Amino acid sequence: MTTALIGGSGFAELPGLEAARGEDADTPFGAPSAPLVFGKLGGCEVVFINRHGARHDIAPHRVNYRANLWALKQAGARRVIAFAAVGGIAAEFAPGKLALPDQVIDYTWGRAHTFFDGEGMENFDGVKHIDFTAPYDESLRAEILEAAKRAGVELAARATLAVTQGPRLESPAEINRLERDGAGLVGMTGMPEASLARELELPYAAIAMVINPAAGRDSGRGVDFAGMEKYLRDGAARAVKIVMRMSNAS
Ligand code: HPA
Repeated sequence: MTTALIGGSGFAELPGLEAARGEDADTPFGAPSAPLVFGKLGGCEVVFINRHGARHDIAPHRVNYRANLWALKQAGARRVIAFAAVGGIAAEFAPGKLALPDQVIDYTWGRAHTFFDGEGMENFDGVKHIDFTAPYDESLRAEILEAAKRAGVELAARATLAVTQGPRLESPAEINRLERDGAGLVGMTGMPEASLARELELPYAAIAMVINPAAGRDSGRGVDFAGMEKYLRDGAARAVKIVMRMSNAS
């Protein structure tokens, strides 16, 4: 089974990817962010895309999430693991932590967030109201948690991810509001990616890498962009180590 991997910040390329070949793709929803890269990661057949583009010049609100997911499915992917850099709101999510969200709150706006929207409708049997009780696929989450154990990489089993519009970071007041809403993590790309994957019936899970304390959570020192880079590199390497221990079957 081919596993799709969606990389973000920190994933200019996929470390450890073997026998890679790139392929351009097109979809009824436009072009995906970058050519798809096919290869092997550990024991897994994978197809990789960076949602921010090969030159990392596509902002979170400009990503064509529909084209990316459609292209991955069209390429034969049967499940999707996304990587996402996030800020930590809850104290337990300090920079350097990895987490596997089980819930999401969507604060984004104006993004093309559904396939059931005029253009491309001929590909579907009418509008489908997807069940989002478990926004992330529970059996894929269980597999990732097992692989993390085998890899000896610490991965928090649950988190609620707030997805903001970006590209700016949040104000401390906004972070307080997200915390009151129940979010422990904040990122900019988790939605509509997760719900679009569900619309295409692709099992989807996200490995979140905490690269900074959310705004106002670090004694008001402001954002440490240099520190973010380091946590990003290190988090990406550990996240990939987890996927390398996943099996190709199931
Ligand atoms: N907020 C939103 N998105 C992010 C953050 C953050 O603090 N860090 C990394 N992505």
